[in-house]
Amino acid sequence: MNLPVANHSAVPPKDQIRVHVRLGLRSYDIVIGTGLLADVSSIINLAAGARIVVVSNPLVSGLYGGAFAKKLTAAGVDVIQIELPDGEVHKDWQTLNMIFDAMLARACDRKTMMVALGGGVIGDMVGFAAAVYQRGVPFVQVPTTLLAQVDSSVGGKTAINHPLGKNMIGAFYQPKMVLIDTATLATLPEREYRSGMAEIIKYGIALDADFFAWIEANLDALNQRDPNALVSAIRRSCEIKAAVVAADEHETNGGRALLNFGHTFGHAIETALGYGTWLHGEAVGCGMVMATRFSAKLGQIDAATGDRIIDVIQRAGLPVKAPSIEADVMLDHMSRDKKNDAGVIRLILLDALGKSRLANRVDQQTIRHFLTTGQ
Ligand code: NAD
Ligand code: GLY
Repeated sequence: MNLPVANHSAVPPKDQIRVHVRLGLRSYDIVIGTGLLADVSSIINLAAGARIVVVSNPLVSGLYGGAFAKKLTAAGVDVIQIELPDGEVHKDWQTLNMIFDAMLARACDRKTMMVALGGGVIGDMVGFAAAVYQRGVPFVQVPTTLLAQVDSSVGGKTAINHPLGKNMIGAFYQPKMVLIDTATLATLPEREYRSGMAEIIKYGIALDADFFAWIEANLDALNQRDPNALVSAIRRSCEIKAAVVAADEHETNGGRALLNFGHTFGHAIETALGYGTWLHGEAVGCGMVMATRFSAKLGQIDAATGDRIIDVIQRAGLPVKAPSIEADVMLDHMSRDKKNDAGVIRLILLDALGKSRLANRVDQQTIRHFLTTGQ
């Protein structure tokens, strides 16, 4: 994977950074800056009709949605605000249907633009709703959590959960723009912030050893939400994700699957414990530790590299010890992973720091032994 060159120089607060996601007719920009929510013109410019549906949850709506909708209304837009219940446990059919109920009740047509204002749960659900409402309406991602700003808002994976598996029902559907206002992170609770750190660290471990070294050196600043470090980390994460998605939009050639490093274990943890018990990033953090240990067990990375990775995950405040879940339960959930091939569990494993691959032929008994004994 050829990644663009990193640029970690400080960005003046008023400046915007643009990262382009190159996908032919579905190309779009990720715009990163502080205070971007104050200017709604870029969103209005993308709307073909006079109507914009802003979907959020009561918490985010209270913090940012009201002011955002007011600005749109003042600019002459017919705004419909929809609030969904908050939390991973509500990322389901029933909640998704609330969007369709509200839009159909107001006779929204295909020119209606949707805006996802919130974290990854809102972004994934609104993206899916936009993909299927009247066979597709345009939408914009306005991510307000760290996790959504560095990962879920970019790349067009949209989904809801099923009781038997995470993100099992969904579609690939790209937004028209991703608008990242880093000022929204000021209100993000600490646990949610750490959860987002997991996906940033993921890019370094799986794809970019230099970025990992940069995270390692700047982790204290990142933990303290230093604005320069944060913008650098968001920018680099978006650059990496944009490059990966451009090369493998629909996860068909193995490239995009690498973004799933730690997720096979992580999704199984989330599902087994009950959605929302562990946050997505917590489960991914722990899943990355498991995938690292598994790679070391197979002799693909040395112990020192493994320790270095686990140390960064731990310093970011993420769990490194797997919760107590029976191996059979983990395997049952892992058997439904979307990367699997003819029932065979496939894992993203490390060949080195920053170098991962989709392993097709992992001995299933070795996985069972690892889950049973932790070794
Ligand atoms: P989330 O959407 O549940 O948000 C976390 C919490 O933070 C919520 O309570 C939310 O109301 C609150 N919140 C949001 N913004 C806030 C702010 N600025 N200030 C204060 N509180 C705020 O969780 P998340 O971590 O953003 O997203 C997790 C979801 O993303 C999972 O469902 C996961 O599967 C999905 N995901 C999708 C992709 C993808 O490529 N589509 C990638 C990674 C994760
Ligand atoms: N978060 C994994 C992906 O977008 O492919």
